[in-house]
Amino acid sequence: MDYNAAVTGWGWYSPAQVLSNQDLEKLVDTNDDWIQSRTGIRERRIAAPGETTSSMATIAAKQALEEAELAAGDLDLIICTTTTPDHLVPATACLIQHNLGADRAAAFDLNTACTGFLYALAAGTQFIQGGGAKRILIVAGETLSRFTNWEDRATCILFGDGAAAIVLEATTHAAGVLSTVLGSRGDVEQALIIEAGGSARPASAETVAEKAHCVRMRGNEIFKMAVRSMAQSAQEALAKAGLTIGNIRAVIPHQANHRIVTATQDALGVSHERMFINIDRYGNTGASSIPIALGEFLQANSIDVGEHLLLVAFGGGLTWGATVLRWADIPAVKLERRESQRLKAKLALTG
Ligand code: ACO
Repeated sequence: MDYNAAVTGWGWYSPAQVLSNQDLEKLVDTNDDWIQSRTGIRERRIAAPGETTSSMATIAAKQALEEAELAAGDLDLIICTTTTPDHLVPATACLIQHNLGADRAAAFDLNTACTGFLYALAAGTQFIQGGGAKRILIVAGETLSRFTNWEDRATCILFGDGAAAIVLEATTHAAGVLSTVLGSRGDVEQALIIEAGGSARPASAETVAEKAHCVRMRGNEIFKMAVRSMAQSAQEALAKAGLTIGNIRAVIPHQANHRIVTATQDALGVSHERMFINIDRYGNTGASSIPIALGEFLQANSIDVGEHLLLVAFGGGLTWGATVLRWADIPAVKLERRESQRLKAKLALTG
């Protein structure tokens, strides 16, 4: 049987604490006007003490399961994408698995920075198409505020915290992930790096004093590569799906910088109304940014069965990617699931 991978549930979580540009003016030599004109950001959310990537991701995951009408025990696999895990070991996915009580699920982490959600979506799709899993939770969480140098005005204005999740489910309906394009360039690793805390530069008093556990970035360099790679991968993903930008209901881009999103919009020739942007309220939430935006898009808009979404991202690594999704008839996918579960239970009873 050939299976497609369809989105049947989604959820997201943003911490309550708001950090405005005016708040940042008190921390570093910056101002609201500069931040808004260079990035489009007005405010971002910051995790409360005690909140972690796994705790935020668990809240988002529960929402996604509820939307999909699934129990945690129905999950075969949990993929968590994050640049800011709770610990180096164990994987944050395992903490989420425990929090949810997903007792049948395998779990692993995946880190390709802000492109993480698209890499996780691609990995989940492969598991479904290969027959290795039927119901997958893809969860993205970032606590970037704990890896931010609050004395560095070039980076501290950009990042925010948050989490989001989707349920990806096997279906025989012609819907779900239609095409994916992924890429990487490790030769520009220094453009965005958290240098210390790993095997190359273990934690020491020196690394702490240098704030080498925080994000360092060559913003200008990334900016140019981001625009190029996002536009190109989006075009390639469209061509692979046999579609043009005219077939796309909405583009959900990684929310890195309003100017990067606008330049991508111009390169793709898509109207402003079809480009979903929420960076003004959240800043750059890393791997969580696309699924948070997807959740907000779905809350504010109705989407018809068969309509297409284009997701596009770039991030540290560098990495980039684009995915075309065809919106599934979700009630029909749920019905298909229930029939298959009924059949499985019947077969188990009859031995
Ligand atoms: N407030 C005021 N002035 C500032 C600030 C600030 N917060 N930050 C920098 N400046 C100054 C600089 O010092 C410089 O001053 P100078 O001309 O006197 O030297 C001037 O503003 C221009 O600095 P640039 O770095 O050239 O500014 P730019 O227009 O490139 O904007 C920015 C910087 C916003 C970081 C931009 O380059 C950008 O968004 N790059 C992409 C970054 C990104 O998306 N990173 C995330 C990748 S995703 C991931 O994997 C996490």
